[in-house]
Order: sequence, then C-alpha cells, then structure tokens
Amino acid sequence: MGLVGLVQLDVRNLCVTRGDTPIVRNVSLSFRGGELVLLLGPSGSGKSTLLRAMNGFRPGVGRVEIEGRDLYAHFDGLKRSIGYVPQDDVLHASLTVRQVLDYASRLRLPETSDEARAARVTRVLAEVGLSDRRDVRVRHLSGGQRKRVSVAMELLAEPKLFFLDEPTSGLDPGLEVQIMELLRRITTEDRFTLVTTHVVSSSTLADLAVFMAKGRVVYVGPPGAAPEFFGVGSLAEVYSVISRDEERWARRFEASSLFRTYVLSRPLALAETNPSSASSSLSSPPATSATSAHEDEDAHKDAHEDEHEDEHEDEEGTAALTPEQELARLKAELRSRRG
Ligand SMILES: Nc1ncnc2c1ncn2[C@@H]1O[C@H](COP(=O)(O)OP(=O)(O)OP(=O)(O)O)[C@@H](O)[C@H]1O
Ligand SMILES: [Mg+2]
Repeated sequence: MGLVGLVQLDVRNLCVTRGDTPIVRNVSLSFRGGELVLLLGPSGSGKSTLLRAMNGFRPGVGRVEIEGRDLYAHFDGLKRSIGYVPQDDVLHASLTVRQVLDYASRLRLPETSDEARAARVTRVLAEVGLSDRRDVRVRHLSGGQRKRVSVAMELLAEPKLFFLDEPTSGLDPGLEVQIMELLRRITTEDRFTLVTTHVVSSSTLADLAVFMAKGRVVYVGPPGAAPEFFGVGSLAEVYSVISRDEERWARRFEASSLFRTYVLSRPLALAETNPSSASSSLSSPPATSATSAHEDEDAHKDAHEDEHEDEHEDEEGTAALTPEQELARLKAELRSRRG
C-alpha cells in the first residue's frame, strides 16, 4: 500500500490533448522526496491539466513513474500514496471540522483502529493549525481555514506525493503565506509536494519552480534563479515574457544547464523492480480510474456551487443539505475517489 524507499516521481515526454488541441506538450520532469515544487504559469497554460496527468487522475500519453513504477498501469495500487486537492475542492458546509475528518478517516483508513484513527485526526488537526476550530462548522470557517480542512483530509492518509491545485486562490496575502508555510512544514523527506499557484511572494519557501507557457515547460529550477534566466527583474515579470514566445523559451530551457541539472541528470528509478508492491491491488485498468476521477471532479464542482448558494442563507439557515445528507455525500464522494 505505502511506498517504500525514496519518494521519486519521473515524468517523461508527457502529452495531453483535448480534442485536437495539445494542452500539455512533451513535458519531462523529475522530483524527489523533500521537495516543495511550485507549478507556475499564466492562466490556461495547462497547469491543472499537467497536474492531473502527473498524479494519474486524468492520464495523458507518456511515462509517469513513481519510484520506477508505471503510475498509469498501477494507478489503483499507487493512488493511496497520492494526495490531491483539486482547484475546485469540495466543502461540506454543515459538518464540523472534526466530523469531516472523522468520516474521511473512517473511509480512508478502514483497517485502522478507532483509537489510532482518532489520534491521526488529532495530529492532522494540529499539523494544519485547526485544533481550536475542530467543533466549528465548515461553513463558519474562513477561506483559509476551509482550505486547510481540504489539506487535512488528504494528510489523513499520509500521502507520499501531494498535489494541490491553487490552494491559495482567493486568500489574503497573510493566509497565502500561511498555507505555503504549512506545505513547507509537511514536505518532509518522505514526501514530495507540488502546488500550482499564482502567488509568487512566498516562492522562497519552495525548492523548485516549474514555469509553463501554452502547454510547454519553459523553466525548471530554483525560483530565485528564474528572473535571471528570462532576463527580467522579478518572477511576476516572467509571466508576460513567456506568454509571448513559448517555443523559443522551451528550446532555450532544453539547451540550458538548468535542464541538465533538474531534469536530464536526475536518474530514473529502476523500472518495475518490485512487481509485488504496486500491482498487487490492481483491479481495474487505469482508463476506468481516470474516468471515475473525472466524474468525481464534476461532483466537486456541483458541491462547490451548492456551497455558494449556501452562503446566501442566514446563519442558522435552512442549508441546502442537512448534516446527514452531507455525511452521505462525503461518504459517496470519498468512496468514488479512493476506490
Ligand atoms: N476538457 C477540456 N476540453 C477542452 N479544453 C480543455 C479541457 N480542459 C482544459 N482545457 C483547455 O486547456 C487549457 C489549459 O487548461 P488548464 O486548466 O490546465 O490551465 P491552467 O494553467 O490550470 O489555468 P488556470 O491558471 O486558469 O487554472 C485551457 O486553454 C483550457 O481551456
Ligand atoms: Mg488550473
């Protein structure tokens, strides 16, 4: 179930097309445990699409390997090691923080004892700084606190590879920094974290920045070295430069020492050396998993819209869903997601 050894994600020549349109174009990347990676780039550049292809929730064409094991071929076995907070994540407004985490822990850790699960919930609450908010309904939390609930739900299963799609969007600058500091703290050497964001102010907390432009990766390297590579004064200015000529920048990057250091010379793990570990729980082909994950995202969207309606109601309000209905929904959602 869990991964043994060093955490390692290797992506080689990954492409994603929607209809006839290439969205992710020939991307190669390598990451290791302990690394906090920012995935940056203009809106529509393909960040969310690449992220879902890298974590197997919506596969592309190409190689994605976790410790040398083909993620697409072994998705069902490997997905327990993967945490994913989608861009439009789900919120269960009428439940308390503790209820959400209790139920999530039951579904995600079915073989764990009640005591151990309760301890895990307590620890995760402390990790995300929500211990004192545990009996508050999600609908009464601030945006940043809600985001931390989503992060906590994923942390329950102790993911080795953690993907977050814009966890800081809509937050004030102080909260943005708080979330980034949280991600820095939890990115220990047995975990790798990749986060898409439009916030570059806390980039110094990250080990690596990946810049995308129109589906191409145009930079991988230390965040602080990016302005110099693009000949501009700040990370924010990189955005306008790369939007203009992404092909040229992609070629320049691939000819650079950054590409050699951060992509090419990172050795791939030995492929498929341990057939017993990943494939043992393989029960359905990856395409099926990907489809259900995609449908689940639509469910996420619906949930999100419900949430907004909910916000227009008064405090004690006749919420769209009762706590019981929320629980049922949470249950169904986690089932469909975790298989
Ligand atoms: N299912 C789809 N069908 C067709 N086009 C799609 C689909 N999903 C994404 N796209 C297109 O792919 C491009 C990249 O989308 P993506 O969501 O990956 O961008 P992004 O970098 O995450 O943007 P943002 O910063 O706004 O979240 C966009 O032009 C989008 O319209
Ligand atoms: Mg996106």
